Amino acid sequence: MSTSTPAAHEAEKKRGAFSSRKVFILAAIGSAVGLGNIWRFPYIAYDNGGGAFIIPYLVALLTAGIPFLFLDYALGHRYRGSAPLSFARLSRPAEGLGWWQVGICFMIAVYYAAVIAWALSYTFFSFTKKWGDSPDGFFFGEYLKLSESPGVDFNVVAGVLVPLLVVWLAVIVIMVVGVEKGIGLTSVVGIPVLVVAFLALVIRSLFLPGAMEGLDALFTPNWEALTHAGVWAAAFGQIFFSLSIGFGIMITYSSYVHHDTDMPASGLVVGFANSSFEILAGIGVFAALGFMAQAQGVAVDEVVSSGVGLAFVGFPAIISEAPWGAFIGVLFFGSLVIAGLTSLVSVIEVVISAVRDKFDLSRPVAAAAVSIPCALISVLFFSSSSGLYVLDIVDHFINQFGILLVAFVSMIVVAWGIRALPVLSAHLSRTSNVVLGGWWKVLIGVIAPIALGYMLFEAFKIDIDAPYEGYPTWMLALFGWGSAAAVMLLGYFLAPIPWRKGTSLEDPESVDTRPVDTSSKGDLA
Ligand code: ALA
Repeated sequence: MSTSTPAAHEAEKKRGAFSSRKVFILAAIGSAVGLGNIWRFPYIAYDNGGGAFIIPYLVALLTAGIPFLFLDYALGHRYRGSAPLSFARLSRPAEGLGWWQVGICFMIAVYYAAVIAWALSYTFFSFTKKWGDSPDGFFFGEYLKLSESPGVDFNVVAGVLVPLLVVWLAVIVIMVVGVEKGIGLTSVVGIPVLVVAFLALVIRSLFLPGAMEGLDALFTPNWEALTHAGVWAAAFGQIFFSLSIGFGIMITYSSYVHHDTDMPASGLVVGFANSSFEILAGIGVFAALGFMAQAQGVAVDEVVSSGVGLAFVGFPAIISEAPWGAFIGVLFFGSLVIAGLTSLVSVIEVVISAVRDKFDLSRPVAAAAVSIPCALISVLFFSSSSGLYVLDIVDHFINQFGILLVAFVSMIVVAWGIRALPVLSAHLSRTSNVVLGGWWKVLIGVIAPIALGYMLFEAFKIDIDAPYEGYPTWMLALFGWGSAAAVMLLGYFLAPIPWRKGTSLEDPESVDTRPVDTSSKGDLA
């Protein structure tokens, strides 16, 4: 069962690998905990039933999130390749699913970097409260120089360009250095720093006057919300984005993990850590909003805004008013930068590892060949004064009709087309006490696809009925529907290209059938 022949070992060394289970878990947590946890979760939870949201959230986590995480792990860990190579080894015609995921990651990386760049600027702005009396006017006007109406222009905004280049430079260095010393080290250092910084932020926020009103607003359940399909859809969407599942990241990362590692147990640790961080973020953000509402003498719902506004308008307002405001600002925006960076490297690694598997490129060449064009596109669109409009559209469509759609299709293909669930569950169960029995097959083959399929149908109807956020049709067609369709078609062009010389498309587990040597697992198990 083990492929630890000298040749396989050599190949593994060349691809890169995490040195231990600990490094893998930290990298997976680093990928999962990102922008989605810190500003997306709090307002999604608030908008969708407050305390009652915890029910669809937990249902989505347990029926689809964790089971899908196991599916991603099984694919990468058994077939030991990037997303397209793992799918190709599972079944040749499935390769396109992997390229679809690669395309999604490319699109996410280009805009995700921009939000990290804003957070980087705001970490420094927090010291002097640079936004003055008008966080709103400062962010949209002075900082982003957002054009009056939606459209596309290429007017470069230097204040965004510089931090964006810094983010990309950091990413390029990490990606060139490689899996263990680049991605692994970034997470090993970044995650403990993030946890300490974020805990300090939450504790500080909880002691602000009005904090309890904020928590009341977040946690007061609106049970009626549970009757709306949209609330359940929001919970599933949040879980997939937040756990980094369904778009190739966990397939790629688990292909870098030693054969004997207990993957299901690792997945439970990652899933629990991600959700704990998410709930912590909700508490920290709403405690601060409660303070803000009290300071302004208004109800909490009047100070809550959605994603971008919550972080870059709401928080600066809090920082200006609160005692120790600069401290809160540096912790909040610094946490966004670290959480964002450890997620961004995982997103871009999906593309790099696929390119390396397909073409015979060394790590530094592949890292540069992927990251530099990605950085250029990112700079072109997102350091311009129309960047926020494009970002909003791409984010919405790539999440709904990229991540969730490919997750839905891959569950159907793997469970019903290839009928691979028995082999995948046996693979994961072999090294774990967590046995993926019939319950897992039912969840992945029936429950999760029905839930996701229904949700996608509803989301599709909403976007067909009315233009998303009232954007011009041509922008939605190009950046929304167009980008979602383009990534879907990527495999059509790339799958026919032969794999790098020497790449076997056989199932690696069936090639080498020698027994596993369990005597020297050491740190790797
Ligand atoms: N999982 C990452 C996030 O939550 C992508 O932002």
